[in-house]
Amino acid sequence: MGSTEQSSMVRTVASTQSEMTEIVLPNDANTLGNLLGGRLMHFIDLTGAIAAYRHTRTHVVTAAMDHIDFIRPVHVGDLLILKSSVNRAFNTSVEVGVKVWVEHPQTGGLLHVASAYLVFVAIDTEGRRQNVPPVLAETPNEIRRYADALRRREHREAEAARRKQEQRAQPEANVATPAV
Ligand SMILES: CC(C)(COP(=O)(O)OP(=O)(O)OC[C@H]1O[C@@H](n2cnc3c(N)ncnc32)[C@H](O)[C@@H]1OP(=O)(O)O)[C@@H](O)C(=O)NCCC(=O)NCCS
Repeated sequence: MGSTEQSSMVRTVASTQSEMTEIVLPNDANTLGNLLGGRLMHFIDLTGAIAAYRHTRTHVVTAAMDHIDFIRPVHVGDLLILKSSVNRAFNTSVEVGVKVWVEHPQTGGLLHVASAYLVFVAIDTEGRRQNVPPVLAETPNEIRRYADALRRREHREAEAARRKQEQRAQPEANVATPAV
């Protein structure tokens, strides 16, 4: 099958779903034994990239991680469960949602600790952007996330345009001052 045929094939959200389980080790934590935010972002990026890859079946790069809520602290020894799926596909990019839970060691119950939205762009081995297949949202939750993803994209674009305008108005504010 050629790459054009591959890229035009509709994929379901379910076919992009990915899950990762990690045990939080001392090396992942701060001096209080809480998981570092940056380490959690790394896990989120990886889990999100796998969903994007399952959808696009080509290389993906992270273009943005634009919304993340750290709801509760995560401790050394906790089992971290991360789940991701593609919310919506655009032209060369996809928005992926990642939700993170901690699994209670005794009961196996899940506690929601963080959520994030990421945008990945599909590229080939030369770094050229690739069109991505459309995604089919089937369940009520998938349909809601599909609609919300478009609103977030519009918000991102408006925010990028606002920042560009601000930079044009104050070019000197963009010059980094070296620390002495
Ligand atoms: C992401 C990247 C490929 C976008 O390239 P670009 O030339 O700016 O691309 P364009 O402006 O034409 O946009 C291409 C797509 O990316 C999306 N995009 C670009 N920047 C984005 C951002 N900051 N947030 C969300 N989406 C973004 C655009 O909406 C567009 O989507 P569409 O094709 O589905 O409509 C490029 O900026 C890049 O390579 N960045 C570095 C990626 C990387 O190294 N990631 C690892 C992070 S450390």
